[in-house]
Amino acid sequence: MKRIFSGIKPTGHLTLGNYLGAMRRWVEIDQHRSDALFSVVDLHALTVEHDPARVRRLSRQAATLLLAAGLDPERCTLFVQSHVDEHARLSYILECTATDGELRRMIQYKEKSAQARGSGESVRLSLLTYPVLMAADILAYGTDEVPVGDDQAQHVELTRDLAVRFNQRYGHTFTVPRATHPPVAARVMDLQDPTSKMGKSHEAGAGIVYLLDDADVVRKKVLRAVTDSGRDVAYDRAARPGVTNLLEILAACADGDPMELAGSYSSYGALKKEVADAVVEVLRPVRERHARLAADPSYIDEVLRKGAERARGMARPTVDAAFSAIGLLPA
Ligand code: AMP
Ligand code: TRP
Repeated sequence: MKRIFSGIKPTGHLTLGNYLGAMRRWVEIDQHRSDALFSVVDLHALTVEHDPARVRRLSRQAATLLLAAGLDPERCTLFVQSHVDEHARLSYILECTATDGELRRMIQYKEKSAQARGSGESVRLSLLTYPVLMAADILAYGTDEVPVGDDQAQHVELTRDLAVRFNQRYGHTFTVPRATHPPVAARVMDLQDPTSKMGKSHEAGAGIVYLLDDADVVRKKVLRAVTDSGRDVAYDRAARPGVTNLLEILAACADGDPMELAGSYSSYGALKKEVADAVVEVLRPVRERHARLAADPSYIDEVLRKGAERARGMARPTVDAAFSAIGLLPA
């Protein structure tokens, strides 16, 4: 059976972008067709300025939301990254495989480090090495496929490069994985700024739909989405980023085709109303299940404990093999 791995960072409340770009496919497809692992990658949340109590809270919330969205602990392995030592162990080995040049070329590093410097903050070394830890997450499990949104494509490419390089230099150790992306909504854009990604760690929330937003808040955010000049509803990412984003969201929620949908609306107002309804309906069951699950934290703890135990057992042999291949004396 195929091995699938993906992760989500507890750096903010989860968004519609996370859901349509990643989680929904994990739930509806991936956990049924493969041996899948999903991780709340908390170590990745420490790469930028953070509040320890908030990271803890968000980690629990992310795990709860993944279950609420429909991950079934009987079908897949759900765990918290820091509960499994193998990630950090393998990350160091891969740091000895990667070069500083290739890490400095990562788009996300360039953007985030520039942002931090711009606001007078120092840049943590872990922000640079972050893609190596991500590679370790993936390679530790012999992963074949990594279902992610578009923004992670470059990181998965790096993971492939590191796997190939390590295998060539030290003998076959790692499966070379590939990224998969959803057919639509692989990059959901901010409703107020449709040229930038809807990201959970952004400051202003007006253009971001959070999975736990109330229905009327969701509706308001969608109805106030920035549209484009021009009147007809057309699918064109470059010329009509606002409307195109709404069409993509609608297509993802309704399993439709964004270009075909464009032909069915004669005004922005009518389109927005449909999008608002569709998003509210998609999120309703998630919010309801989240409320029920959040009332029983000991259940979540138990799922995460079992998940970590299973993940440890899966990662250990591969990471041990990498230690041995690279020249470390067995303990
Ligand atoms: P992150 O929130 O960065 O931990 O991302 C978790 C998953 O959600 C990754 O697979 C991302 O690619 C995906 N994702 C995050 N934001 C978006 C977005 N705006 N559109 C589509 N996918 C997204
Ligand atoms: N870097 C990913 C993101 O920002 C999260 C992540 C960490 C991940 N490790 C992973 C995704 C491994 C897929 C596989 O979204």
